[in-house]
Amino acid sequence: MIKPQKVPYEQARDGNRAFWDELTPVHLRSYGVERFLAGERWLPQEILQEVGDVTGLSLLHLQCHFGLDSLAWVRQGAVVTGVDFSPTAIEAAQVLSHKADLPATFVCSDIYDLPNNLEGRFDVLFTSVGVLCWLKDLEAWAQVITHFLKPGGFFYIMDAHPLLYTFDDEGQWRFILPYFHNPEPYVWEGENADYMDTSYKTNAPTYEWQWAVSDVLNAVIGAGLRVEFFNEYGALSDPVYPEMVAREDGLYTFPNMPVPLPVVFTLKARKDA
Ligand SMILES: C[S@@+](CC[C@H](N)C(=O)[O-])C[C@H]1O[C@@H](n2cnc3c(N)ncnc32)[C@H](O)[C@@H]1O
Repeated sequence: MIKPQKVPYEQARDGNRAFWDELTPVHLRSYGVERFLAGERWLPQEILQEVGDVTGLSLLHLQCHFGLDSLAWVRQGAVVTGVDFSPTAIEAAQVLSHKADLPATFVCSDIYDLPNNLEGRFDVLFTSVGVLCWLKDLEAWAQVITHFLKPGGFFYIMDAHPLLYTFDDEGQWRFILPYFHNPEPYVWEGENADYMDTSYKTNAPTYEWQWAVSDVLNAVIGAGLRVEFFNEYGALSDPVYPEMVAREDGLYTFPNMPVPLPVVFTLKARKDA
């Protein structure tokens, strides 16, 4: 079983940033940018329904990668700022914003440094799918969210359900990792296939943290936000991970689950006015 490793945060952060710099051009080819540019609905229905109407609202998108979700929010009428610590991803987001004629602001910053790199307060703080495993400190993360929220504004997250990370990624549904948080990251070394384009192999190590549901809830509550809902989904309107397949009811989930399991969770929390 892979064990957490004690590594300086700078090594983990710089390693992860190099990984995301390397993967950005691969994802530009494999995420379905052409479908987005052709005007297809991009955000899953569950996100659109739960976030609600964003027309005219200022929206800060944390860990925006190369900005597809950010630009989808521009299409929905929000005034969007996207943030990511990968300079390659931020550059790609700016190019895509011009190409799609969907104006947005993109800022290159580590989340934890964001209060030093960005001014202003926002109506909505948004982040989604594949975000928390890259973060070493959820309490500090939630403080950053509160810092950037206007009074009365809300935070929304959809991310992989923490239970999902305890299973192997080969579809065997074997437990391979503990469910609970460990302060040290899991270091994934050696040749790894990219999750979007499995024909692309990378040797860049990644440093990832496991967080339990209670860690997420307590971080958000501890930062002074009022939780409005916490939902768990076993299937979604869209395959947010490439391995997902359509069930009989048309919703997408992972194949061969031994029993119905949660795939993603969502949470909405408000900063009191
Ligand atoms: C899976 S992607 C984002 C999810 C998004 N839904 C997507 O798939 O396009 C994770 C992103 O987190 C960013 N990231 C990881 N750690 C970060 C940090 N400490 N500060 C800012 N961005 C970070 C990476 O650069 C990457 O673009």
